[in-house]
Amino acid sequence: MGVTIVVAVGENGVIGRDGRMPWPPTGDMRQFKELTWGHPIVMGRTTYESIGRPLPGRTSVVLTRRPDFDPGAPEVLVAGSLDEGLARARELDEEVFLIGGAEVYAEALARDLVDRLVVTHVPLAPEGDACFGPIDPQRWRETVRERHRGTPDYEIVTYERTVPA
Ligand SMILES: NC(=O)c1ccc[n+]([C@@H]2O[C@H](COP(=O)([O-])OP(=O)(O)OC[C@H]3O[C@@H](n4cnc5c(N)ncnc54)[C@H](OP(=O)(O)O)[C@@H]3O)[C@@H](O)[C@H]2O)c1
Repeated sequence: MGVTIVVAVGENGVIGRDGRMPWPPTGDMRQFKELTWGHPIVMGRTTYESIGRPLPGRTSVVLTRRPDFDPGAPEVLVAGSLDEGLARARELDEEVFLIGGAEVYAEALARDLVDRLVVTHVPLAPEGDACFGPIDPQRWRETVRERHRGTPDYEIVTYERTVPA
């Protein structure tokens, strides 16, 4: 319960390139769907536009500083700050997922707003312009590690915050 970051990260920390994912689909979208299904997902405007549509079965909350931003779908909520976005998501559910991108992850971690990380570790080191981490073992304790077959095989690791907010 609380705020969970979901991210797929390469072994060099890269998570994106030119507004898109830095690798073809690995297969972890199935686990992403299972994890987030039925819960609000909060994301930056770049990530929303990169996905290109609201994901089904979850309320999307898009962060933007543009007062005139139109998400193109009436069911999508728009918020002008991370605090507002999280507050709107919490009105819907006590479990909220932050799904990117780099700017949103960085603010949420710097401000200690996150309780849990669910990280797909992808064994690739692509070039990119959006990064995540490194994950500080003083602050984050690994609690679950799952190995999955994919292209390439990947691991999904859950980290819980070591100290309360
Ligand atoms: N590997 C993964 O798991 C993963 C997951 C998600 C995304 N990605 C990748 O990450 C990249 C995108 O990351 P990014 O850092 O460039 O963009 P982003 O975090 O998705 O979005 C940044 C935009 O969100 C809005 N925003 C961010 N913080 C805000 C705040 N506090 N208040 C109001 N609005 C805020 C601003 O929109 P406006 O400019 O409209 O004001 C900002 O330009 C892409 O390459 C994407 O594919 C990877």
